[in-house]
Amino acid sequence: MTTIPTWYYKRANLPMGNQIIKEFQDALPALLQSLGHKERTYNQLPDINLVKELVPSLSIALKEMNLYNVWHRVSLVAAWPYRPLPVHRDGSATKIREYALNFPIYGCEYSETSFYEQKKEYSNLPDIIHQRVNLSGAVFLEPNTKIEKQLEKVDSVIVSEPTWLKTGAYHSVSSTKPRMAASVRFEPEPFDYLNSL
Ligand SMILES: [Fe+2]
Repeated sequence: MTTIPTWYYKRANLPMGNQIIKEFQDALPALLQSLGHKERTYNQLPDINLVKELVPSLSIALKEMNLYNVWHRVSLVAAWPYRPLPVHRDGSATKIREYALNFPIYGCEYSETSFYEQKKEYSNLPDIIHQRVNLSGAVFLEPNTKIEKQLEKVDSVIVSEPTWLKTGAYHSVSSTKPRMAASVRFEPEPFDYLNSL
């Protein structure tokens, strides 16, 4: 049986990591433009074929890692000083996304991803705790202060280089400058690979 790892983050040390970051930086205007203005949100999903075209090194690296065939999509994840990402788990009520491979695009050295666990005195939280809010056509996550009180911070990382993150854990992103990361998702998730790291 496959076990889901328990660690919150690991540096990826993948082939051509810096080249992939550079290609994401160069591709970002075109990726955002392809989504149009209706897609202003903390989490944007460009067409994967456009990502493959504009970030060719990512395909090469994932093939070397034997992860290309389970590569599912890329999310562009933004956070701002005035609009951090409050605590949430990635995924939906039917499917939690346990891990993602994140690349910094800009501002990530000024931001911190924090991980949380439920304090002992509380009982089980629902899988999905976040709610989206639409402000003037831009979609953000709404903080859930009632649930945040039940959590304690257990770890944190600055995604200044390619990094695997446990996105299925409760986590938040704060930032002192606008930041953008590319989050590569896999389906099915490569738990055997992650357990070998
Ligand atoms: Fe997340």
